[in-house]
Amino acid sequence: MIKLQVIHGPNLNLLGLREPAIYGNQTLADIEQTLVAEAEMLAATLSCFQSNSEGALVDCIQATFGQKDGILINPGAYTHTSVAIRDAIAAVGIPTVEVHLSNIHQREAFRHHSYIAAVAVGQICGFGADSYRLGLQALVRHLKGC
Ligand code: DQA
Repeated sequence: MIKLQVIHGPNLNLLGLREPAIYGNQTLADIEQTLVAEAEMLAATLSCFQSNSEGALVDCIQATFGQKDGILINPGAYTHTSVAIRDAIAAVGIPTVEVHLSNIHQREAFRHHSYIAAVAVGQICGFGADSYRLGLQALVRHLKGC
């Protein structure tokens, strides 16, 4: 069984309420429910973690070392600022897929750069809540060597 860690960064706990025109109407609980069902079909298990705090996200990434096979992460605004999250992903060396609900490349210039992209297997953005599901599929396919 493939073991995955799903990590959500700051303000993603407000999904459903937060700028629905950009981020959609689904809550984080809705998204996680879809991911659990999808993971089951892919013979994977997943744990989910959300924090608004950069240090807690780094701690969660560090805790995956030797415990998880892959990480699916939406680092939220820390995508564009956090060398610490990037370094934590590089340190554990666990295949990581970066996802975003919105198409960050179509938005403000400060969202165009991701500190995470260079240490990720790949990035999926712009498909709303579906970015998570597509990211999960891509991560599992990568881990299975498809
Ligand atoms: C986001 C995009 C980020 O720029 C933003 O700060 C978020 C959400 C997304 O999922 O589209 O919080 O990661």
